[in-house]
Amino acid sequence: MGAKRGIGSAPVKGRRVLVRVDFNVPLDEHGAVADDRRIVEALPTLDHLRTAGARTILLSHLGRPDGKRDPRLSLRPVARRLGTLLGQTVLFADDIVGVKALESVARLKNGEFLLLENLRFNPGEEANDPGFAQELVRLGELFVEDAFGSVHRAHASTVGVPRCLPSFAGLLVEREVRELSRLVGRVERPYAVLVGGAKVADKLPLLASFLGRADRLVIGGALSFPFLRAAGASLGATAVEADLGPVAEEFLRRSEEAGTEVVLPEDLVVELPGVAEPVTCLLSAVPADGLARDIGPASRARFSEALRGTRTVFWNGPLGLAEDPRFAVGTAEVLRTLGTVPGYHVAAGGDSARVVAALGVSGSFQFVSTGGGAALEFVQGLELPGLSVLPDA
Ligand code: 3PG
Repeated sequence: MGAKRGIGSAPVKGRRVLVRVDFNVPLDEHGAVADDRRIVEALPTLDHLRTAGARTILLSHLGRPDGKRDPRLSLRPVARRLGTLLGQTVLFADDIVGVKALESVARLKNGEFLLLENLRFNPGEEANDPGFAQELVRLGELFVEDAFGSVHRAHASTVGVPRCLPSFAGLLVEREVRELSRLVGRVERPYAVLVGGAKVADKLPLLASFLGRADRLVIGGALSFPFLRAAGASLGATAVEADLGPVAEEFLRRSEEAGTEVVLPEDLVVELPGVAEPVTCLLSAVPADGLARDIGPASRARFSEALRGTRTVFWNGPLGLAEDPRFAVGTAEVLRTLGTVPGYHVAAGGDSARVVAALGVSGSFQFVSTGGGAALEFVQGLELPGLSVLPDA
């Protein structure tokens, strides 16, 4: 993916600039922003626009309200948090489009910000409805794409609007593309990919995309279970996506042909019913009622060894049930080791950024992406509609 025309060349002074941001952030039980990283990462672009005297109209989605208004998914708390971070009031429009939205936009002065309500309250957003896109287009004169986390979606705000307005990449999108591009194409080798997490069927295309591209594919978490089972491990009462056996076998065969070494756990931390303290088991010795929850000490050493001497590492997904501190040890230890390995390390996708923060291992990474699915599609080398639509630099 080549560079896109950046915001630096956009004539924004006094203009109405529509900025697509990804403010899809977690909210706490009181409806307040629980993790503002995605808002913070948008600040360089917003600061640039403020300094340059733009009238900025922010567009985002939050959650998946399915085209209907849902007060629990309002962006109002996000406007408040953004206002605090920017040190100035961020205006908020309950209406996404229509007369009231147009009036709110008309009142904006140079250097001011208006956040529109959750785009996904309107069914036209996800349907990429041309009528809805046109109504958004009426609100602005220029478009800036800074929602890296959403560029894999072909929605009205990510594709429909930039087709109709002069469009530019924001600073976050530019940075994400620059950094993640170091994992695609000409990569400094040895290149290791460390992947965990749960959704095996969803992640198989991701794993397959690294065959022949990465030197080593290190697989932990529930993602490793079908492969371990294919290799003959029983795994006790652990839930394993049953129908994946043949796929896993075929995958291991293809990895050999492609020259990509697959590294799997050799022992597991296992939870037994009614027993608080988990036990470590070899693959062949998981009790019938045992549930595999984390990689064991021998696997931690094996995984750490697989990372030593590499020049590029991409990590996605915990190696165990890391939200429970009893089962976060494997992920924490391997990621801490990564911090001692010189080279270029990227964390991306799903919960990875949150896990990095929770385990205090941000020092192990040169870059932590704000993207979930978008980052995973990017590193697979897939075309992302929200990027393709932007003019090249
Ligand atoms: C994300 O959190 O990955 C993005 O905001 C996209 O959200 P979506 O998967 O609901 O489209």
